[in-house]
Amino acid sequence: MLLELIGITRSYEKDDEGRGRSVLDGISLAIQEGESLAITGPSGSGKSTLLNIMGTLDAPDSGEVKFNGVDVRRLKEPGLAALRNRHIGFVFQLHYLLPQLSLLENVLLPSIPLNDRPAREKAAKRAHELLGRVGLGDKISRLPGQLSVGECQRGALVRALINGPALLLADEPTGSLDHQNALQLGELLKELNRELCIAMVVVTHSLELAGSLAIRYRLDNGKLLPES
Ligand SMILES: Nc1ncnc2c1ncn2[C@@H]1O[C@H](COP(=O)(O)OP(=O)(O)OP(=O)(O)O)[C@@H](O)[C@H]1O
Ligand SMILES: [Mg+2]
Repeated sequence: MLLELIGITRSYEKDDEGRGRSVLDGISLAIQEGESLAITGPSGSGKSTLLNIMGTLDAPDSGEVKFNGVDVRRLKEPGLAALRNRHIGFVFQLHYLLPQLSLLENVLLPSIPLNDRPAREKAAKRAHELLGRVGLGDKISRLPGQLSVGECQRGALVRALINGPALLLADEPTGSLDHQNALQLGELLKELNRELCIAMVVVTHSLELAGSLAIRYRLDNGKLLPES
């Protein structure tokens, strides 16, 4: 099993009225290699919180997160950072490309911490292949400011895939795109899921995007419910 969540709970600090608020209420989920799933749910239902816990960016109050069978609580921060860098790719609603770096430099950033040369060379090769694959092969030297929002978001997707992760976590990846660009990115996600056999968890408000992924869940009232 690639990723396993067992009985995850998470609440946030007390609100203005002094009440603690439970956001995730005992969530269990197993994700296999190459599986693609969508998570929908109302605003504030905890989708980003859940995704951050899956990606070890946040820790649950209780429950277990296992990545490739390893309980991530056994890892200290450098180990977690290495796990994220090598095995997990993140895409967010905004692309967060650095404005002063070219597209190619941006997508190569996550390969810098790789300390073996063959791995970095592999990443460089992969950058060219993937940028071509998402239709940006002739724009690799441009700064983000010289690219459209949709192009930047495709660049962010390539950056997330540069180290060949086993899992891609996407939080509203089409949220800042117009309909046409959103459709294109959704198609790309699906195709890359198949071609690279990479597991994906996509949080989205778009029923269209959710509907195109194999497995669908809805997060509501702290519970994750399968949707048909
Ligand atoms: N750092 C934080 N401190 C306190 N409360 C938080 C924090 N982060 C999130 N919350 C609260 O937890 C709840 C879930 O937030 P989360 O961002 O996970 O929701 P979401 O489902 O991703 O919403 P959206 O669809 O609007 O992005 C919200 O009520 C939010 O206000
Ligand atoms: Mg969110």
